[in-house]
Amino acid sequence: MRLFLVLFLIAGCGTEERAPIDQPNPGPGPGPIDEIPDFARMTEIHDSYCVQCHGGSAFTLSENALRASSAKQRVLNGTMPKPPISMPREVRDEYLSFFSG
Ligand code: HEC
Repeated sequence: MRLFLVLFLIAGCGTEERAPIDQPNPGPGPGPIDEIPDFARMTEIHDSYCVQCHGGSAFTLSENALRASSAKQRVLNGTMPKPPISMPREVRDEYLSFFSG
């Protein structure tokens, strides 16, 4: 009889409605970029927005060539990428942040 009671109590535990456990605050969503992109990330951006016209251009091939090029200036003053390619603002900001690192 005692065993039955214990089993009954244990079985009862699982069936209670539980209040949802408070979730920890979700991490930061898309927002200001806090990480400086590396050259691998720049290559991804070049692949999406530049190589259509610049396949093989020096600035797409090495970090040093990129830094030595006018790419930052061109993107900053809005002359690159040229139409019909356009870069979303957040990608542009990420792209430009590379040069500040
Ligand atoms: C639709 C074609 C097109 C796209 C896309 C494009 N460019 Fe250009 N780019 C050109 C042309 C054409 C020139 C040469 C004429 C000039 O200087 O405006 C040029 C010249 C340049 C130059 C100076 C010459 C050199 O090769 O160093 C840089 C730097 C440059 N582009 C960077 C970029 C970057 C960075 C992107 C992507 C974010 C990009 N371009 C996307 C067409 C394009």
